[in-house]
Amino acid sequence: MAIHSLRGFRDLFPPDSSLFASIEAAAREVFALYGYQELRIPTIELKELFVKSTGETTDIVEKEMYAFTDGGGREVAVRPEGTPGVVRAYIEQNISQSGRNAKFYYIGNMFRAERPQAGRFREFTQIGAEHIGNASPFADAETITMLVRLLERAGLGGCSVDLNSLGCGECRKTYRQALLDALRGYSERLCEPCRGRIERNPLRALDCKIDGPWLAEKAPKLSLCPACAEHFTRTQELLKISGIPYNVNPGLVRGLDYYTRTVFEVRSSALGSQDAVCGGGRYDDLVKSMGGPAAPAIGWALGVDRLAMLLKDKPAPDNSPKAFVVAAGKEAGEKACALLTALRAVGISADFSNFDLSLRSQMRSADKSGASYALIIGEDELKAGSCAVKPLKNAGEQTTVPLADVPSTLKQLLKG
Ligand code: HAM
Repeated sequence: MAIHSLRGFRDLFPPDSSLFASIEAAAREVFALYGYQELRIPTIELKELFVKSTGETTDIVEKEMYAFTDGGGREVAVRPEGTPGVVRAYIEQNISQSGRNAKFYYIGNMFRAERPQAGRFREFTQIGAEHIGNASPFADAETITMLVRLLERAGLGGCSVDLNSLGCGECRKTYRQALLDALRGYSERLCEPCRGRIERNPLRALDCKIDGPWLAEKAPKLSLCPACAEHFTRTQELLKISGIPYNVNPGLVRGLDYYTRTVFEVRSSALGSQDAVCGGGRYDDLVKSMGGPAAPAIGWALGVDRLAMLLKDKPAPDNSPKAFVVAAGKEAGEKACALLTALRAVGISADFSNFDLSLRSQMRSADKSGASYALIIGEDELKAGSCAVKPLKNAGEQTTVPLADVPSTLKQLLKG
């Protein structure tokens, strides 16, 4: 029996793969404008990294990680997100000492053993950005602005950002106890996993898909300390100056443990239940808690699979070859081979099928290829040292040109 792919894992053919590539290209352009540089982090890390940073009581760590013991007896995990790896690399490479601006982006596949459904995969691609070492609300406003501009550049206009502040450790100390007391009172109504973890992390219940919505109304509200309130107000003022539409959503808590102060998400109802295109926030305490220097930070990650779903109806970039070379027989095939090389050398994309097949069958492939021109070396052309240039997409006469002139002639034709 043929081997099939695993549930939640998929193959991406064109036009989907082209759409992914165009989103990634747009992201790289925008990152360059904001002074971000690419960081490539490993796919597999010590499991402990994610347990300590993503958080022991998060769904990701509790039930969604692909973790195993490797041949050397180490407990490792396939990355469910990029932030922990970036933070580990920042600490391990002593980036804070280098005096370099720590603005990094990454593009890569992440793995979570969630129940697959529309917009939720077990392997998915994230584009992420992390700005480490800057506590200022200017960094918050810049990173959110960059995200919105990136979505626009990729083709998703009209986004509004959901914004909230989770305060700092100080604001949360008193809040944690008040929330815990309230949750204990509701313990009968809470779902099984929430009941099991409220004592360890009461905040997680607010992000629960089952209990979160009703708790958002009933549970006590966090009140920010003066410094966190000031930071949140300033961030909003700066977003207004940058022309970024946002909506303060006190119910936004995010599903990862490291967040402090500003958190944000971009959602789209067109996605159905898995509606978050992107999420992020500040994590001012994470670098220090992972053994690094005191380095406040902020970042986000964008789900490329979900963004691609939203952009599906937009015209996909046309990656068809410009030229399709057709030739019959050994000698003509050799000329065709040299012609393909010459075309590609001047930047004209060119393809062929199989020079051992009949001209008629090769022409059928040329028609299917989406190429603009067929370049045909038949018996007559071989004798004359020429090539027939046949338009496939637009009306126009077939012409014959000397073989050596084909690349320059085609360049002119493609310009017109
Ligand atoms: P996250 O909210 O877990 O945050 O994921 C970010 C985005 O990844 C989501 O908004 C969604 O678009 C996409 N995503 C997550 N899980 C799946 C899935 N199973 N299938 C398809 N897409 C998915 C983070 O990962 C944080 N590291 C973001 C961050 C960076 N915070 C600070 N810096």
